[in-house]
Amino acid sequence: MRKIVISTGGGDAPGLNAVIFAIVKSAYKLGWEVYGSKHGYSGFFNGNDLIRLTPKDVEGIIPIGGTILGSTNKGNPFAMPIENIAGDITLKDVSDRAMDNFKQMGFSCHIAIGGDGSLEIAHRFALKGMPVIGVPKTIDNDLEATDRTFGFDTAVATASDALDKLHSTAKSHDRVMVVEVMGRDCGWIALYSGISGEADVILIPEIPFDMTAVCKKITNNELHGKPYSIVVVAEGARAKDGDVINQGKGETGREEMVLGGIGQWVADEIRQRIGKDTRSLVLGHLQRGGSPTTFDRMLALRFGAAAVRMAQENIFDQMVAWIPPTMSSVPIEDAIRERKQVDLESDKVQTARDIGICLGDHDPADLD
Ligand code: F6P
Repeated sequence: MRKIVISTGGGDAPGLNAVIFAIVKSAYKLGWEVYGSKHGYSGFFNGNDLIRLTPKDVEGIIPIGGTILGSTNKGNPFAMPIENIAGDITLKDVSDRAMDNFKQMGFSCHIAIGGDGSLEIAHRFALKGMPVIGVPKTIDNDLEATDRTFGFDTAVATASDALDKLHSTAKSHDRVMVVEVMGRDCGWIALYSGISGEADVILIPEIPFDMTAVCKKITNNELHGKPYSIVVVAEGARAKDGDVINQGKGETGREEMVLGGIGQWVADEIRQRIGKDTRSLVLGHLQRGGSPTTFDRMLALRFGAAAVRMAQENIFDQMVAWIPPTMSSVPIEDAIRERKQVDLESDKVQTARDIGICLGDHDPADLD
């Protein structure tokens, strides 16, 4: 009889509940018990935040967005923000307490569902001796060592749907619509949604852009009888001679990147440079919400079931990874070493160029 504890940390992503569903169902089939730690690691410290999960508790949760356990960006037990009576926040390492409680409660495995931040914490616990298994979650698809993270497909579907809708209004008004999408310093969401949503320009962090090239594409559209354009900008994109736009402090109160604002900047530049009527919008957290696509449900369910199989085989400090066509396990360290950026030599980037999308640089094949 084994006892598993699940945690969901960092930004939420569609498919989290599907992973939880698969873990609970597979574990119960083996006769194991499953618990969920609420809001990241809270259940490791506070009994009220540790909930028993039975098959009955997870009935019907596959299509539901978010996480039934709740999530947080500020629950790192190695650097927990603690407020003193003067209101000052200091960071305290309470990881030993979490380790002791984990052992005392008789857990034999912790399945951490998270992106790079949560998986780094999980790896640090593994180094302290906690049997940890990681499950790759993020809408950004920026984890190494797995072909996909769950949540990405749904975010792309949401962004593509928004682009479809923007086409008609852009066309009615002969306007340029600039859409800022998420993705941190990787351009996956922008590239996939931009290609499938018939964008004219896609700006990604991997290619610092030149506004001259962007404006040239919009002007060329006009010359060829298309007086409107759709521009997709990843939140982490930057001009060749500029910086990423950082909105300042995040939830933890510490210095960290909170991206956003580059879409508005690009729209202002277009207006100033070529006088085109331009509007911008930020899709923001819409991309994190809603019911997971069938693809994400399948991926999440396969991740969850594979994580329990790994627990059965005592494979720890590893992350379940989708390396098509199989589910594999890879060291967590390999997944978090660096962020997986778009490969500029890939056929996806080439496809964008082939179908006439401007990527903000000079396309060598461009004859104009
Ligand atoms: O990592 C997922 C993500 O949605 C990023 O694309 C985005 O930059 C960030 O999280 C926003 O996080 P939050 O608003 O939750 O701090």
